[in-house]
Amino acid sequence: MYEKLKIIHWPDPRLKKHSAPVEHFDDSLQKLVERMLLLMREDRGVGLAAAQVGINRRLFVMNPTGKPEDDAAYINPVLSDPQGEQEDEEGCLSLPGINIPVLRAMKLTISAQDAEGKPLQQTAEGFVPRIWQHEFDHLVGTLLTDRMGTIDKLAYRKKLRELEANYHRAAQPQIPQAIRL
Ligand code: CO
Repeated sequence: MYEKLKIIHWPDPRLKKHSAPVEHFDDSLQKLVERMLLLMREDRGVGLAAAQVGINRRLFVMNPTGKPEDDAAYINPVLSDPQGEQEDEEGCLSLPGINIPVLRAMKLTISAQDAEGKPLQQTAEGFVPRIWQHEFDHLVGTLLTDRMGTIDKLAYRKKLRELEANYHRAAQPQIPQAIRL
């Protein structure tokens, strides 16, 4: 049912939408999570939000190390208790070829559900909460393009035009009907 899902690229308008909560924790959610983990791995990413496969629901997958045992899914996540700051380069699978410095909290707590609906809470520092914050941005339609300063925008002007041209040229991947999340 999800085999046809692909990662969508900016400026696809589905990336700018606010995502709705996941309500049904069933087989189809687990299949979606598996498909998203596969697409993330194929593109060598460390995180992928459902909005990036055109499904505007509040969930994302992550794997900070590339080891299969570190695959994780966060459904209906909430971030809290941000502490400190870190600035580092970030890329996004929906904005290929673009890397910009982004200021994030150094330490955070995430509360969410796993793919079976069990509540989870984790606190981490450094790279992992950077991924949480990047993916959480996707749930509210915030992209790296919204975090670019004037200099980044100038530096990536050509790349952004190229992505726009690609978007208008290509047929956009469609979402299968009758998904129940
Ligand atoms: Co991204």
